[in-house]
Parts: sequence; C-alpha cells; structure tokens
Amino acid sequence: MRTVEWRGKPVWILKRTPEMVASLKKTDGKVADADSKRNPEEFTPEYCRNEHRSIKPEILVAVGICTHLGCSPSSKFTPGPQPSLPDDWEGGFLCPCHGSTFDMAGRVYKNKPAPDNLQVPRHMYMGDTKLVIGKDEKGEA
Ligand code: FES
Repeated sequence: MRTVEWRGKPVWILKRTPEMVASLKKTDGKVADADSKRNPEEFTPEYCRNEHRSIKPEILVAVGICTHLGCSPSSKFTPGPQPSLPDDWEGGFLCPCHGSTFDMAGRVYKNKPAPDNLQVPRHMYMGDTKLVIGKDEKGEA
C-alpha cells in the first residue's frame, strides 16, 4: 500500500489481491453502509458507489483518516482471529482509538463509533497507469 498526501491528508492507494476483492462479498452484510449511501457527496464519488468503492475493482483509493474522531486506522489485511478483531475477520483496517473497523473497501462495520465509511477522494485515471487525486471529469474537489 502506498500513501500519498492530498490537501494535508494521507491518501492510501492499495492494490487489492483477488482474495481481498472477493472478501467484500462476505462483508456486505456486516458493514453499516454497504452501498455508500450515507453522505455520498462527502465520502464517495458517484463512480465509486459500488461494492468495491473504486473505479478499478482492484485499486482502492481512500483517505486514511477515521471518520469518528480523525485517528489513523492501521492495516489489518490478514484474515482470521487476532487481537482486537473478531474471529471471522476478513481483512481490512482497524482504528485503534475506539475500535472502529473497516473492510477492504473502507466500509465501516455495523455498531462502531465511526459514522461513515472512509472517504474516497475524487480521482481519475489518465491512461492506464496514471492516477490523479482530487480531480475528476467533473472538476477539482
Ligand atoms: S477515531 Fe477511529 S474509532 Fe474513534
């Protein structure tokens, strides 16, 4: 996972494995806002309001700031039982501050203090490999 800075915020760019993408089917029923319908203008651009919350299914672009009180969630990509996580953990992110958990698309799990999914900033691809953050076909964020 790479982290870049955008407007003073850390933005994660994560190339998900096929297993990580497949895990999103399993977390659909466990997350609070599976279709990114809450505050969509702020948190999820229209072209990312899908299960994987991205333009390309394998590439996640998300702001690495918890939507509760702004702590930095940690990567917990390995599925399975481990400290501070449920035994049926599918991989994702854990905010150590108050225990909010997010799946591999940054969707917050149900009954956690964080009210929203991690923010997906506006972004676009120029050609196959160049990613521009903070801007899309509709203009600058
Ligand atoms: S800041 Fe992340 S759970 Fe409170």
